[in-house]
Amino acid sequence: MSQDTDETTEETPTDETTTAEATTEETTTAEATEHGDGDSPVTSQTVEAIFDAVAAVAPEIREGLPGRRVYLDEENPSGEEVLAADVHADDLLCDRLTAIDGVGGYASEEGESVVDAGEGFAVTCDPLDGSSNLASNNAMGTIVGVYDAELPATGDAVVAAGYVLYGPITTMVVARDRVTEYLVHDDGSREELTQITLPEEPTVYGFGGRVPDWPEDVADYVSAVESELKLRYGGAMVGDVNQVLTYGGVFAYPALRSNPEGKLRHQFEGNPMAYIVETAGGRSSDGSQSILDAPAEALHGRIPVYVGNEDLIDRLEATVGT
Ligand code: AHG
Ligand code: MN
Ligand code: MN
Repeated sequence: MSQDTDETTEETPTDETTTAEATTEETTTAEATEHGDGDSPVTSQTVEAIFDAVAAVAPEIREGLPGRRVYLDEENPSGEEVLAADVHADDLLCDRLTAIDGVGGYASEEGESVVDAGEGFAVTCDPLDGSSNLASNNAMGTIVGVYDAELPATGDAVVAAGYVLYGPITTMVVARDRVTEYLVHDDGSREELTQITLPEEPTVYGFGGRVPDWPEDVADYVSAVESELKLRYGGAMVGDVNQVLTYGGVFAYPALRSNPEGKLRHQFEGNPMAYIVETAGGRSSDGSQSILDAPAEALHGRIPVYVGNEDLIDRLEATVGT
């Protein structure tokens, strides 16, 4: 399932551009190009095909939502209730992604094991992230990771990652050597909008889980940042991380007293979103190290997730686990 990549180096942009000023030609990510340099043409073509397919299927997933707000009488491998919309999105993504040359496997939050598709990259999906928001008609997303390794894999095997945000408009954010936001049209085509780097001045924070379930060090950290930042928590990681990328700040689904691994899945949610935030110039952490360095234990394993501006994650690590 592994894919050869060559070591061709691309020039790293060095000029300084803020998020608001960034254009598709001029963007820069002085601190933001840690991952993805040196992709081979084969890697680039396959990654493009994967995100073309994700954009193409996004309007179908969105159109399929209104009639699928009902829970089915089944659980996913994480032991959570499953909506008809989760299954529909998973079926569509599995069909389209396994049909791509260069995709060798598909794994999803909704499926027990990896679907074999021949030789090539392993693609992970959280088909509908934040699907409990469907009942209340709030934002949701689709999260995609592209790994050059057998799953489960550590984050250093991620060669690209992205998400679709089903908000008032449908957008797609893709990270490789840099992070690009696209508008997804109703016909499934994508139009490049801008390059994303984290704003230097953070504005927002959002932490999941019940406050009494937070370990004391997590509660201490939130007490420290809540006087500096505005609370923004929407119940879908894609929407909440998109706010961090837009306004700067920190998102977390932390370690919990009831579950030290937290809630979010390492392969489907943690690694791809960490890759996106780090490529945009931010940091990720599981409390003590980059999520991308955390050992991969099981396909459906969970991991505490903290992502955001570098200073905020440095402070988090200094507070949590000490
Ligand atoms: P999913 O719908 O894929 O299970 O993911 C939901 C996740 C994540 O998107 C969000 O940050 C968190 O769960 C919300 O959980 P709470 O309802 O506990 O806030
Ligand atoms: Mn999710
Ligand atoms: Mn999901």
